[in-house]
Amino acid sequence: MQYDFDQIINRADTDSIKYDKMKYFFGRNDLQPLWVADMDFATPDFILSDLKNRLKHPILGYTMRKPIFFESYKNWAKKRYNWEVQNQWLDFSPGVVGALAIAILALTDENDEIIIQPPVYHPFFEVIKGNQRKLVENPLQKNSNGTYQMDFDDLRNKITDQTKMILIANPHNPVGRVWNKEELQQLGDIAVQNNLIILSDDIHADFVYKPHRYIPIASLNSAVAQQTITVTSPSKTFNIAGLSTSVVIIPNEKYRQKYNRKLTDMHLFLGNIFGNIALVSAYQKGEEWLEQLLQYLKTNRDFVIHYLNKKIPAVKPVAPEGTFLMWLDFSNTGLPHEKIKDILINKALLALNDGKSFGTNGEKYFRLNFALPRPKLKEALQKLEIFSTNK
Ligand SMILES: Cc1ncc(COP(=O)(O)O)c(C=O)c1O
Repeated sequence: MQYDFDQIINRADTDSIKYDKMKYFFGRNDLQPLWVADMDFATPDFILSDLKNRLKHPILGYTMRKPIFFESYKNWAKKRYNWEVQNQWLDFSPGVVGALAIAILALTDENDEIIIQPPVYHPFFEVIKGNQRKLVENPLQKNSNGTYQMDFDDLRNKITDQTKMILIANPHNPVGRVWNKEELQQLGDIAVQNNLIILSDDIHADFVYKPHRYIPIASLNSAVAQQTITVTSPSKTFNIAGLSTSVVIIPNEKYRQKYNRKLTDMHLFLGNIFGNIALVSAYQKGEEWLEQLLQYLKTNRDFVIHYLNKKIPAVKPVAPEGTFLMWLDFSNTGLPHEKIKDILINKALLALNDGKSFGTNGEKYFRLNFALPRPKLKEALQKLEIFSTNK
């Protein structure tokens, strides 16, 4: 079956944050939304149809996760990433960021240090600082060829007796890196040597453009696996983020017990009936849809890069190896950050994420979500041409 990703769907007034919270965040609601990381494509029909089937029954009472819930993720991980996950490693969370917070509360103490690698997804700051842990930055380095790398020397220097955890994103939001084996190995070795827990947010794992390949850091070897908590979800992949359902993989039994204790103490283990159904449907039936989606997104990605290079050279894209997000460097416009932001919102009428919200090294950057029908993407890029003349 051929899926139609060109279809334009009106999402206004569906309580979508991306559309219906624009006025709150940008001061006006007549912008083209290119910010929140969900896609403007229909959730696949096989998921919608499984949900509708369940709705034929009139009672939506307390629900449980059947073994197929974790089994379907396990099979997906084996097939898509060649990762052998064991049944007992698997646990649940209502959302990926929620799982990060639970893991932090379960496995670290107040004032422990947790390392992150900015520029990075803004809730990483909140789950650390909001839970009274100390945030330590190990900023990514940008090479002369425009790609980002982890700075391992700086990382080693930042580790103290109080450092308990490093929180990474793989693939990385917003710079779009898909960490390669050598990088993950170095990081894993440092974590093992220093007894650091690696909390790996792999929510974007399914969005990887060939020849790049997603490698779960816990799949490297058993020493690294014992240090790692991986959190993932079908929510981005299948556009079901509103169902708040995710999977947590913890090979280390002691860590797993602590995680599960905290999840239970907070009474967050139940989940919801629709999330359970959608996850199984996605992982059991989703491969063909995903392959077509990746093809579409890759063309969108290349289209944006080509368009910017040709028509708007002052806006430099960082070509993502994964995710449907693009980190755009506006520094060649010669304009101050606030001016760029003002032009984006009030002249181009575009809503992009402000680079400063991703922390260190976010100044003069903005993040573009390119998971939208190509005709709409073209419209957005035409509006961005305002920067081709430095207006
Ligand atoms: C790296 C990363 N982690 C987590 C999330 C959100 O996960 P959830 O909605 O399940 O909390 C996002 C959404 O943009 C993300 O980019």
